[in-house]
Formats: sequence, C-alpha cells, structure tokens
Amino acid sequence: MTVLVTGGAGYIGSHTARLLTELGREVVALDTLERGYRDSLGDLDLVVGDVADERLVAKTCRKYDVDSVIHFAAYKAVGESVSEPLRYYKNNVSSSIALVETLMANGVNKFVFSSSAAVYGTPDSSPVNEDAPLRPQSPYAQTKTDIEHFLRSCDAIGLRSVSLRYFNAAGAHDSGDMGEDFSLAANLVPVIMRVLFGGQEQLEIFGDDYPTPDGTCVRDYVHVSDLADAHVKALDYLATGGKSLACNVGTGQGTSVRQLVEMTESVTSRSLPHEVVGRRPGDPAAVYADPTLIRAVLGWRATRDLREIIASAYRWHERHPEGYAR
Ligand SMILES: NC(=O)c1ccc[n+]([C@@H]2O[C@H](COP(=O)([O-])OP(=O)(O)OC[C@H]3O[C@@H](n4cnc5c(N)ncnc54)[C@H](O)[C@@H]3O)[C@@H](O)[C@H]2O)c1
Repeated sequence: MTVLVTGGAGYIGSHTARLLTELGREVVALDTLERGYRDSLGDLDLVVGDVADERLVAKTCRKYDVDSVIHFAAYKAVGESVSEPLRYYKNNVSSSIALVETLMANGVNKFVFSSSAAVYGTPDSSPVNEDAPLRPQSPYAQTKTDIEHFLRSCDAIGLRSVSLRYFNAAGAHDSGDMGEDFSLAANLVPVIMRVLFGGQEQLEIFGDDYPTPDGTCVRDYVHVSDLADAHVKALDYLATGGKSLACNVGTGQGTSVRQLVEMTESVTSRSLPHEVVGRRPGDPAAVYADPTLIRAVLGWRATRDLREIIASAYRWHERHPEGYAR
C-alpha cells in the first residue's frame, strides 16, 4: 500500500514525503517539476507528470498499489492568481477534479487536501475556528474553497477526505538539506532570507498602524515539519475509518512582523535591514488559528516554535545558497 504525494517535489510535499519514508511508509511522488525540484526528494520514487494526466495517474496507482493520496499539487501565488485566473482555475480546480475522477476509477478513496487559511479571507476575529464563514478574497483562495466543497460532495460517492487549512508554512528540515526556494516564494520568512542572503536590499514592512500590539500584521507560522506530521495524522485518521473533515493547521500563536524581525536578528546575530512602507490592500490585521479541532480529532499539535522556524530556514540557506540544482 502506497501513498501518492502529488506536488511531492515542492516545498511542503517533499518534507511530507520524506517524513512518511522515515516512518517506513511506501511513497511515490507525482510532480511536473514546473515549480519543484527532483533533488528535494533524494532517492524517493518520482513520477514526472501532471495530476490531470488520467493514463499516467491510473498507471501509477496500479504500479505502486496506491491506496491514499496527499494532494499538494497546485499553484499558490495570490497575486499571480489575480493576473492569471484561467491558469489557476485550470490547474487548481479542473486538474484536481480530474485527479479525483481517476483515483475513484482506480479504487483509491482516501484523500488529504492542501487547503489554506486563505479560505477565511478576513475573519471577523482571531483565533479563527472552522465554523467561521468562508470568504475567499482572491482567485487562489476561491480555488481552495471550491475544491473543499467539491470534496464534501464526493462523500456521496465514497471518497473520504481531510482538507487541511494551513496557516503560514515556514522553516526547513532539521538536517539543513531541504528547504524552500526563496527565489519563487513571496511569503515573509523566505523574503527575510532573501534579504539576509543578498537577493534583496531590505524587507518592506507593509504598514505599522494596524490594530495589533505593535501595529504590524499578525500571522500564525507553522514549521514545515510539523505541517508534514499533520498529513501523516490525517492519513492515519482516514485509514482507521475517520469521516471527511476540514480543519485548521496552525499553532494558535500570533506573531507580528516586528516580532519576526526581532527573532531573526536574535537567532542569526545579524541585523535585518527593513523599512516600513504603506499598507498593502487586502491584508487582514491579524489571522491566527484556533487549533482545537485538529488537536481533538487528529491528535496533532505544533512542536516547534518560531526560533526553530528561523534557525532551520537560515541553516538551509547557509548550506545551500543556490538552493536545489535545476
Ligand atoms: N506554502 C504555504 O504557506 C501554503 C499555505 C497554504 C496552502 N498551501 C498549499 O500547499 C500546497 C503545497 O504548497 P508548497 O508551498 O509546497 O508549494 P510548491 O509550489 O513548492 O509545490 C507545489 C508543487 O506542485 C507541483 N505541481 C503544480 N501543479 C501540478 C500538476 N498539475 N501536476 C503535478 N504537479 C504539479 C509543482 O511543480 C510543485 O512542485 C499547495 O497546494 C498550496 O496551495 C501552501
């Protein structure tokens, strides 16, 4: 019995595939390599191709005896989704539907989906729990919301799924040999690393007049290895008969941009050049998770703190200034 990890050569997928292998599970990754790296998977089995390729997915399911899937494969840049909605709906929605159709035809009915806290848009308050209304504010967030709804409908045809609503994934593997490509990412921790490693002059802090303790935006940063562990627990939950579910994956701890800057300077003993500029339209003041549901149902909780997030990301970039080979 094998876990198919789509988008397995990407940032979170590669960490999850590695953890599954370390736990002795059989894994096969499927990735176009458009935004992922073969090297991130070491000697793990990788099928290069698209989740929408029915023949390839069916063949992979048969060859590897796939019984469950973690579906990471998607595009994830909010700004790009605004300028290229066709591309985003096609890859994130149509291709996901095609994948599910092929899986069902091949008897695979356990599905873990990479959703996002972006489905909440600007929540009325934080911590935000799963009962909050879904109000996606970008084509990207809408694609995640659409697939969550689609998966819920697929219960009727026997698909059981866990949609994991990630908050802000960050950090790198303890080994220092796997991490995020900061040249592709627009998230805060990779941008900070880009500044420290000379790819950008300074960090721009978008607004310091929000109604938060220090005026800068507050988010919930989850270590990528903790996130990987949430997927293992979701697979185990489905394997033991768990019902379909959507749940937050966050620490429950809000961290402001200023706190992140201070932590970076403390961990690296370097100063981080930064400047406060105007607010960015659409940025909510504070978004952090209420992780009660995932603790109760999957038995998951974050075990790594902000210091480990920064230290591990820094270690990865220090050891691999050029990232993975292309
Ligand atoms: N990184 C975050 O903070 C974050 C937060 C919330 C949700 N997510 C979601 O988690 C998932 C993984 O994110 P990530 O940060 O690892 O992104 P990533 O871009 O590093 O990885 C995605 C991988 O999917 C592959 N891919 C894309 N479309 C494909 C297709 N049609 N067929 C096969 N492979 C395809 C890419 O080549 C890439 O390797 C995404 O679905 C993303 O939307 C990420």
